[in-house]
Amino acid sequence: MQDRKIALLGHGVVGSGVMEVLTKNHDSIAKKAGFPIEVKYILDLRDFPELPYHDRFVKDFNVILNDPEISVVVEVLGGLHPAYDFTKAALLAGKSVVTSNKEVVATCGAELVNLARQQGQSYLFEASVGGGIPIIRPLHQCLAANQLDEICGILNGTTNYILTRMMKAGLGFDDALAEAQQKSYAERDPSADIEGVDACRKICILAALAFGRHIYPQHVHTEGITKLTLADTNYAEEHGYAVKLLGRAVRQGDGAVYAVVAPFLVSHDNPLSNVEDVFNGILVKGDAIGDVMFYGRGAGKLPTASAVVADVIDIVKNEAHHKQMLWEDSGENLVSDYTAMT
Ligand code: HSE
Repeated sequence: MQDRKIALLGHGVVGSGVMEVLTKNHDSIAKKAGFPIEVKYILDLRDFPELPYHDRFVKDFNVILNDPEISVVVEVLGGLHPAYDFTKAALLAGKSVVTSNKEVVATCGAELVNLARQQGQSYLFEASVGGGIPIIRPLHQCLAANQLDEICGILNGTTNYILTRMMKAGLGFDDALAEAQQKSYAERDPSADIEGVDACRKICILAALAFGRHIYPQHVHTEGITKLTLADTNYAEEHGYAVKLLGRAVRQGDGAVYAVVAPFLVSHDNPLSNVEDVFNGILVKGDAIGDVMFYGRGAGKLPTASAVVADVIDIVKNEAHHKQMLWEDSGENLVSDYTAMT
């Protein structure tokens, strides 16, 4: 079977996770995508021959852009520039783009989605919100029959980890942040996490999908968690509340959308109060489905890579016109006795 060649822009935490997932699950991914998927290039400016996959490293994006074999570009660089510029150039060159970059999606998502459509390509960003949690596709596909009224979620794993450690382990803010950084949850510059900027970008992306209009981060009232002290979290705990950094977007009666990111007191009968550590939880209200909650690992190398690789599979699969689900009837009984498992 002829393989499909892709290029990876960035080999940091998410990029190395993408390589790990594509390598480990190579055969099952090939089956689901219809073709084996091979990473031909990795754009990385480092010069260490001992790095894994070093033989695929390139420093010049034009090598990728001008190679007709590359049909999908995976952008996991982070930051607005040059990520936006590379994305636009790749789409204009007739390549699809997959990203985890919420800054680019929140700022320029409408433009890039439309450009991809004009070019007959895809611009997919499942990993931009909620790490490994499927939320982008469910919002615009599975819940498409609903009028969506509200999205409210814990959208940042780092701050949720910090708040959990403050509430459950009595750590001060600085110690809890240092732990989050040690575990590679926090961004390189943690200000985007702790100032609420990361959660703001994510609620903008979700609101755009749910309500069909681009909401710009600068129009969302955003407060982070830097002013919270141990005294605040202890006080909340004593009164039966959890402190959570929530991103919330609500459609109002006149069709206007109200969006905010701020720390909230969440009572223990709200399922979001039980979302702890690096986990994210997102509650969506639809007029047909009622409340539906998405929960899982919202940050980290492999959870984020899981969503990135799923988008790549989706593009390759559609290219192969294998749009049907992988659901073969082998005639074998693969189900073992449930009682034997316990
Ligand atoms: N720093 C982000 C977080 C990574 O903590 O949620 C995932 O977007």
